[in-house]
Amino acid sequence: MENRPVRLPVLLVLILAVNCACAGTRAPSAEAGRLFETLHMAEGMSVADVGAGDGDWTLALAERVGPGGRVFATEVKEDLVVDIRDRVERQELDNVTVLLGDDQSLGLPDSCCDAIFLRQVYHHFTDPRAMRDGFRRALQPGGVVLVVEIRIQPGWPELEGVPDRGGHGIEPEDLLAEMSADGFELVERYDSWPGDEDRYAMLFRPVTEVEPMALGFF
Ligand SMILES: C[S@@+](CC[C@H](N)C(=O)[O-])C[C@H]1O[C@@H](n2cnc3c(N)ncnc32)[C@H](O)[C@@H]1O
Repeated sequence: MENRPVRLPVLLVLILAVNCACAGTRAPSAEAGRLFETLHMAEGMSVADVGAGDGDWTLALAERVGPGGRVFATEVKEDLVVDIRDRVERQELDNVTVLLGDDQSLGLPDSCCDAIFLRQVYHHFTDPRAMRDGFRRALQPGGVVLVVEIRIQPGWPELEGVPDRGGHGIEPEDLLAEMSADGFELVERYDSWPGDEDRYAMLFRPVTEVEPMALGFF
């Protein structure tokens, strides 16, 4: 057979196919792989994408959990809620619920989720304590929160109304201290995360208080 050089358009299609983990989303595959592995994502799971932005990760998660699962996408920006709903409708996805949250409330139903995922969102919270309360309420027993974050970025604009942590972003020790102070324990820590050398992630679960009865005290 003749040995032909690979043509540029063919090469571009191949690169796109490799880079795109899931149909209809631009979520990069290396990061999607890490995310799915960390959350033990499987068909039928129920997961929240808090601060979903343009919805890329919502769509990737929706494909992963399949028709028997559910993804709750939340946003505080109404235009983004409209855009995500539009994408979900165009792709005829029945397993996604898009919700408008606000600074005080995630807007998620109680006990809705096996896992909550936030990608570069936590440092945008103006009332992180209210959000942490929301995580606890939205998780089913055994549920986890995966916070993907970025270290403080010199030169990035300050965010209005957020706690002062020395700039745009959050250092890992500050995230750990804030989550721990509200009763979340660290399950796994990733000092690097695909896509940006300043990105990291932490997986938490809520500490469940042991009832005095269970210890034999009355
Ligand atoms: C840097 S973007 C990240 C978007 C998306 N997670 C991603 O990785 O592409 C941060 C997003 O968090 C949203 N956000 C900020 N505070 C929020 C809150 N309290 N609840 C839900 N979303 C929030 C913003 O509107 C913004 O779209």
